[in-house]
Amino acid sequence: MPTIIAPSILAADFANLQKDIQLINDSDAQWVHFDVMDGVFVPNISFGFPLLQAVKKNTSKFIDVHLMIVNPEKYINEFVAKGADGISVHYEGNLHIHSVLQQIRNSGAQAGLALNPHTPVSVVKGILHLVDTLLIMSVNPGFGGQKFIPETVSKVAEAKKLIQEANTSTLIQVDGGVNIENCIALKHAGADVLVAGSAVFKAANPKGYIADLLNA
Ligand code: DX5
Ligand code: ZN
Repeated sequence: MPTIIAPSILAADFANLQKDIQLINDSDAQWVHFDVMDGVFVPNISFGFPLLQAVKKNTSKFIDVHLMIVNPEKYINEFVAKGADGISVHYEGNLHIHSVLQQIRNSGAQAGLALNPHTPVSVVKGILHLVDTLLIMSVNPGFGGQKFIPETVSKVAEAKKLIQEANTSTLIQVDGGVNIENCIALKHAGADVLVAGSAVFKAANPKGYIADLLNA
């Protein structure tokens, strides 16, 4: 399966959002990554429902919503109603992750489970059958433009092994500091979905950069 590239609109130009969405529409990217931050789960606030609706209106790409919020279960149905095709929730701080993952699937979206850099991959044992996408954070969540944590590569390889053992079709997604330099090692380790924000939108030719990430 070719790698799925998911440009993160956190790094887009919000004053010209339509232009940046059009760029994604015209590119080889299959997904759009949408980071929701509440200022509690992470030390930053990003955006929510109105922006999601605006993105949905302008793209037919798969909208991959990454929730960095407390009590995500309260908002899942509304995110789906407003256009989310997939929703990732964090393992950390979620007392009832098994039930939240089921809730996401029941709402009609693909279920994603996100792991912070300090969380071992082994926590997914026993719940992989509920996980469509395992999102491995390669920076501490909260901000775009951070430096990639190199230990992520071995975490991806470990996740790949667990998924093969569990015999599920869970995709491995990597998010944070992904660029043309580290994407090859990530793919070799087993990454299926690469999120890239600043690397794409700061590139001289973002569409070309997306194609390079795909073909590297
Ligand atoms: C970080 C977000 C990432 C971010 C990635 O908390 O989850 O999705 O947008 O941006 P870059 O690629 O700039 O690290
Ligand atoms: Zn993200």
